[in-house]
Amino acid sequence: MFKSVVVFIGPPGVGKGTQASLLADSFSIPKFATGDLLREALKNKTPLGVEAKNYMDSGKLVPDQLVLNLIKGKISALDKETGFILDGFPRTLSQAQGLDEILLTLCHNVSLAIEFSMDEEERIARLTGRRLCPNCQRTYHILFAPPKKDSLCDYCSVQLVQRADDNEEVIRKRSAVYWETTEPLLNYYRQKNILKVVDASSSIENVFSRIKHIFQELN
Ligand code: AP5
Repeated sequence: MFKSVVVFIGPPGVGKGTQASLLADSFSIPKFATGDLLREALKNKTPLGVEAKNYMDSGKLVPDQLVLNLIKGKISALDKETGFILDGFPRTLSQAQGLDEILLTLCHNVSLAIEFSMDEEERIARLTGRRLCPNCQRTYHILFAPPKKDSLCDYCSVQLVQRADDNEEVIRKRSAVYWETTEPLLNYYRQKNILKVVDASSSIENVFSRIKHIFQELN
């Protein structure tokens, strides 16, 4: 059984969600992406979704405590022995410290943090061409990872959509927020000696093969 807790960190469009889905599918590991969970709350118009909407639409971070409560609910429901992947969480030092406190109560700790790194202009091209399945949250790209049938999810056959925050203005704002908030988070994991950097500019398959290798070393 996979027992480790792994976090994926990286700027918008770097491929965290794509790789998290591939790993989760290949190794049958649970994964939680705070962006997906927040979009689901927004779609269902829950109080959390309503509160998060303005932050997400403008590319700002949702307040730490809201996101921590959301994640706590998800991971507390898992079997204590089960490991999992966190995509896009934590995003701030305070979220990382909050996560450690939650994990402590579950006798877990973060075993590995992967930082995805890549040039900004290429990331913007990835995001403007991204399409999303509103049902299973799988992501596609009109050029780099197209669905088998035009505009339909390969798994759900549902019409793919474009995310509201995938326009260039909001993408640049999300990137700026990332650089303003992430360095202390990276330092936190660097000091614990669990941070690995992956060059995310290569093909989806190449990046996956690198990540798979890191995973196999971990278990
Ligand atoms: P979130 O949904 O997490 O967005 P993000 O961090 O901006 O990351 P993205 O989902 O845009 O990119 P990704 O790295 O997952 O790329 P992907 O794999 O899709 O967050 C959205 C918002 O929610 C935030 O702005 C904030 O408001 C809020 N939020 C979320 N978490 C929060 C938290 N912890 N705290 C506070 N607020 C929070 O790939 C992109 C595209 O590229 C796809 O089309 C894909 O097919 C393609 N692609 C992927 N890899 C490759 C490759 N190797 N080669 C070619 N194409 C590729």
